[in-house]
Amino acid sequence: MSISKDFLWGGAVAANQCEGAYQENGKGLSIADLRLAGSKDKKRGFTPEIDETLYYPSHKAIDFYHHYKEDIALLAEMGFKMFRLSINWSRIFPNGDEKEPNEEGLKFYDDVFDECLKYNIQPMVTISHYESPYGLMKKCNSWESREMIDYFMNYCRVIFERYHTKVKYWLTFNEINLALHSTYSALGMMLEKNADYEKKLFQALHHAFVAGAKAGALAHSIDPSLKVGNMLAAASVYAGTCDPQDNLLVQKMKDQFFLYFNDVMVKGGYTPKCQAILKEKGITLDVTKEDEEALRKGTIDFISFSYYQSVTLTTHSDHQTGSSDGNIAGGMKNPYLTESKWGWNVDPVGLRILLNEIYTTYRIPLFIVENGYGDVDHIKDGQIHDADRIDYLRRHIKEFKKAIEKDGVDLLGYTTWGCIDLVSAGTGEMSKRYGFIYVDVDDEGQGTFKRMKKDSFEWYKKVIASNGEDLD
Ligand code: BG6
Repeated sequence: MSISKDFLWGGAVAANQCEGAYQENGKGLSIADLRLAGSKDKKRGFTPEIDETLYYPSHKAIDFYHHYKEDIALLAEMGFKMFRLSINWSRIFPNGDEKEPNEEGLKFYDDVFDECLKYNIQPMVTISHYESPYGLMKKCNSWESREMIDYFMNYCRVIFERYHTKVKYWLTFNEINLALHSTYSALGMMLEKNADYEKKLFQALHHAFVAGAKAGALAHSIDPSLKVGNMLAAASVYAGTCDPQDNLLVQKMKDQFFLYFNDVMVKGGYTPKCQAILKEKGITLDVTKEDEEALRKGTIDFISFSYYQSVTLTTHSDHQTGSSDGNIAGGMKNPYLTESKWGWNVDPVGLRILLNEIYTTYRIPLFIVENGYGDVDHIKDGQIHDADRIDYLRRHIKEFKKAIEKDGVDLLGYTTWGCIDLVSAGTGEMSKRYGFIYVDVDDEGQGTFKRMKKDSFEWYKKVIASNGEDLD
């Protein structure tokens, strides 16, 4: 099998990390709008209300809201077939619980999608990417409450009906499995770390699973040509030694972090493995007959995921060689891999391993919707030579091509993360850049907001034009 001529090459962004205009044309506050900037070594905090004396990166971000025409023209120049972006839920329902949507918010995305389609770029939409309405967090602590399912469905009905002729690919929740690390971003919810923590967390995840399944069924009933996928933060996971205990640890992590989520969404319910995970934790979920039916009827059409690095685990403290960072944090340093400036290891072969594992388990199409290299860029004589970024992407593309061509994996497409520089989700920095296009804004939101092509821009253009043949 070789790469199909319909392979969807492109890039990805999220509304809260690029749009800015956080209060324009009726937009309400999202949970992202209360997050402060952090740094490599300092966690991002948040405030319960906006404090005008502080700096919140999402408020201006890269001002995509006012630059989208220029930005999409640049993506088109690279030959993008797909542009993954998210809808900022609080542009459509400012508080989250309104009955009627905000027409100005809807109009903005109509304009963005039309601009993409003008260049034959297919938009792919993440329905919820770390930016649920803050109003719902205040009202019911978001997904902790069952009420959230109805708010989400109201939002989904509006956007599916409005955009189904323009948007064919939809993702429900960005990296929903990262709720195991942070309930704030992934589920818009504050949870005290007390004895009930895990029970509440898994119940909230259940509400989101049911909502995602109902959304999938609704999308298909509105327009059977729509494709709905999940979205997980993924990694290949290795044992630090050949001690069977280390391998058991690896299996446990994979089960809890990936399989639990994919099983429910692909197989349509809590499989024996999912039930075993819950039992071990002593959790009995509140699952109604209606929930079970929703999960059964709303299975996903494809699995999508982000892939940045691998994780290596060991039970042996003498084998620990410092910890490794990443969006799936933790694990030991892997001596066979190099790392980015932010401590994220670089493991292209891990991507091939992962693709094989997921495809062998589920046999439904896969989509890599995030992958990329966060780095500091330097402007020299009006140019940005981002050779390390090119190298990272080239090596990952080579490996997913092997997964398609040699291993028979059904991969629909590849959208690199942060195709245009944007605010980092993890740290709130601008200086952690992923783009083919540089944006002149610094970590305090200062700059001209001018766009500039990096070396990787022409490189990726060539990659797409040759359908992945010319990677030099
Ligand atoms: C993923 C998220 O975890 O990783 C993105 O879906 C995020 O929103 C990306 O930006 C890269 O992480 P970071 O912390 O470098 O921005």
